[in-house]
Amino acid sequence: MVSAALEETFSPPADSVLWRKDFLIGAATAAYQIEGAIHEDGRIPSIWDTFSATPGKTLAGDTGEFACDHYHRWQEDVELLASLNVGAYRLSISWPRVMTADGQKNQKGIDFYRKLLTALRAKGLKTYVTLYHWDLPQHLEDKGGWVNRDTAYRFAEYADMISRELHGLVDAWATLNEPWCSAMHGYGTGHHAPGKQDVVFATQAMHHLLLGHGLAVRHLRANDPSAQVGIVANVGRGTSTDASEAGQRAAWLFELQHNNWILDPLLKKSYPSALWELWPGAEPTILQGDMDIIGQPLDFLGINYYFRTNVVSDGKHGYTEVDLEGVERTQMGWEVYPDGLRHLLVGFHRDYPNLPPIYITENGMATDDKVVDGEVDDRQRISFLNRHLEAVNQAVKAGVDVRGYFIWSLMDNFEWAFGYERRFGIIHVDYSTQKRTLKRSAKLVTQFLAERNAKS
Ligand code: FCB
Repeated sequence: MVSAALEETFSPPADSVLWRKDFLIGAATAAYQIEGAIHEDGRIPSIWDTFSATPGKTLAGDTGEFACDHYHRWQEDVELLASLNVGAYRLSISWPRVMTADGQKNQKGIDFYRKLLTALRAKGLKTYVTLYHWDLPQHLEDKGGWVNRDTAYRFAEYADMISRELHGLVDAWATLNEPWCSAMHGYGTGHHAPGKQDVVFATQAMHHLLLGHGLAVRHLRANDPSAQVGIVANVGRGTSTDASEAGQRAAWLFELQHNNWILDPLLKKSYPSALWELWPGAEPTILQGDMDIIGQPLDFLGINYYFRTNVVSDGKHGYTEVDLEGVERTQMGWEVYPDGLRHLLVGFHRDYPNLPPIYITENGMATDDKVVDGEVDDRQRISFLNRHLEAVNQAVKAGVDVRGYFIWSLMDNFEWAFGYERRFGIIHVDYSTQKRTLKRSAKLVTQFLAERNAKS
């Protein structure tokens, strides 16, 4: 059981790294999930417009057409964000908003981000900007999307153009958000846009995503030398209740597939070979020099962590997920498992000698929040944040270089295939009026950061 204190206050232990003013605390969003305005100012269609408009692909048929209407309400949102006392904001740029189908810049789209970033800077907020949070221009998908090597080069052109335009306004660039989800859910399971279902596509897409990352890194460094450059990976903790060798191997394979598939190429310049036992025949085509492009040094690694998965062997080369009974879960059905975050961070620190400084670029939970008499009492989220921040503190104490933590999310938004039902925000959004209401979690975080700032 969660102790009442954890649900009612947001107050890290006195010796926690969270009290250090240089430990960055921020909030995160992504373009397609909040902006809306999909037809405005020359924005072209993305794969998520197509996918979400296809019957049966999202819960209740929800789309990102209006979302939080942030494209029009960004000034109000910047004010709200600044009122939380956070030190940074992580956002993403919508590629289809800033680049035309023939690869020219779309000035109106670029101006939106210039105004936004300028306003954030004026409020003293650090800007963490992701170039690709899943909204591939549809015309590139029509030519094969990430399965087509050419998309990596188109991505690099976009990175080059936008970093020339916005240099000096960004503290840290992340090339990709969660390439695992883009590759696996986009081209393997089909749960995400573009909804393809073939593991051979997924592994090739992953390779091209990572190649695009590496090509983009070069442009970002050249065009914006004072900014940090990194990438954001989602990672998962896998365990097995089956203590046998087969059970333990299943858990190992789960983490290999979710974590090392991405981290090995980035930090060791190779894919783990056991992947090709898990997926025989799915080895991607890799051209000479690719792994050096992919494995360039990074200034930071963004880690997104949400839950743990329990697995058993499938009796062949793989594993099967088996839900544990009686564990605490979120509105997504995800298990709340803070120690997984500590465990993974410590493990990465041990296994990758060249691990760059880490930011937790996403962590948070969905709850079925309701506004009652003007208040949103999201106690489970407060407890969740307390416990995960303590896990980060423990990892830092164990020697891991974690520099910051971003709450997912600043506000309720379009949760991909789950639409608007799943609420991850520390700010509640009433989608019928677009009214924003600070949840209790947001108020407590604000209070804590005010206290921290007041300390000498
Ligand atoms: C991550 C995504 C983010 C959000 C959270 C809940 O996988 O990066 O956009 O949907 O999950």
